[in-house]
Amino acid sequence: MEKNIFSRKLIDLRRKNQLSQAGLANKLFVTRQSISKWENGESEPSIDKLISIAEIFNTSLDNLIMGNMSDKDKLVSISHINKSYDNQVLNDLSLDIYDNERIALLGLNGSGKTTMISIMTGLKNADSGDVKFSFNKKKSLKLMPQNDVLINDMKVRELLKLTQLLNKLKDNNHIESMVKEFNFTELMDHYVGSLSGGQKRRLSLLLSLMAPSKLLVLDEPTVGMDLETIDILWKHLEHVTGSILMVTHDFNQIDKFFSRVLLLKDGRIENDMSVDKIHSHNQTVEQWYRTNNGGLNHD
Ligand SMILES: Nc1ncnc2c1ncn2[C@@H]1O[C@H](COP(=O)(O)OP(=O)(O)OP(=O)(O)O)[C@@H](O)[C@H]1O
Ligand SMILES: [Mg+2]
Repeated sequence: MEKNIFSRKLIDLRRKNQLSQAGLANKLFVTRQSISKWENGESEPSIDKLISIAEIFNTSLDNLIMGNMSDKDKLVSISHINKSYDNQVLNDLSLDIYDNERIALLGLNGSGKTTMISIMTGLKNADSGDVKFSFNKKKSLKLMPQNDVLINDMKVRELLKLTQLLNKLKDNNHIESMVKEFNFTELMDHYVGSLSGGQKRRLSLLLSLMAPSKLLVLDEPTVGMDLETIDILWKHLEHVTGSILMVTHDFNQIDKFFSRVLLLKDGRIENDMSVDKIHSHNQTVEQWYRTNNGGLNHD
């Protein structure tokens, strides 16, 4: 049987709350096998168990069953953003981002994806409109920008230490194991400015993943990365508990990893679709994108 919205939701919520199948089974007085069947879409819980699940994860039944988000789950609210340079880039753009979402942001080169992200994260100002966060943005919003913003005359070790201090990260072991995993052990005493382009991308990624986030924003993270680093990226993202917004044209991954796709066109979010819905129409995200973007060329 196909995974339904509830199955995916349950897996997401459980992952986010770092609860094992056995742990959840315990709380619900059911077997671990029942949880596994629900998550595989092989059976569904009774209504009283559904209510308990909603309570355990502090969410609404509506959200649990239909994937409908309520205001309680809203992380960011972007409303009526306008931005012009020589031409108008963003034109009355509005977008809400919720807890537990994995969003792929698509659009042609120059359509304004980076501009939208820069305004959302506060790197640039909009001409008008506003962005509201329901969480502490300074602490829990992480960004891996399209162009690396690294401090070139610091050593890798110093930059990592600085990030650790800024984020008040106490678990040295965790950081050490990330350094190893991201293959920086041998590069710790190199100056950031002397790293290759790909190594800088890898460092940027490591910095954005070091601390937990409510919302992680990645602007074309895989550009310039070797396959090994791309594997590390996807492996790590599986463990990210907050929401993710990523600009990417890696369509294989979009079908596998993301829950929602946005298409930025003519300065606004022209199309906003759940990946499940696209699949339920027997389409891949790439087919959906090609039909909706009205052309074959993207980067
Ligand atoms: N600082 C700037 N000054 C002038 N024009 C700018 C500036 N930044 C962006 N633009 C213009 O705004 C438009 C949107 O650029 P943006 O970088 O947001 O697009 P994008 O969708 O991220 O593109 P890409 O896929 O190439 O990364 C482009 O036409 C670009 O030339
Ligand atoms: Mg861009």
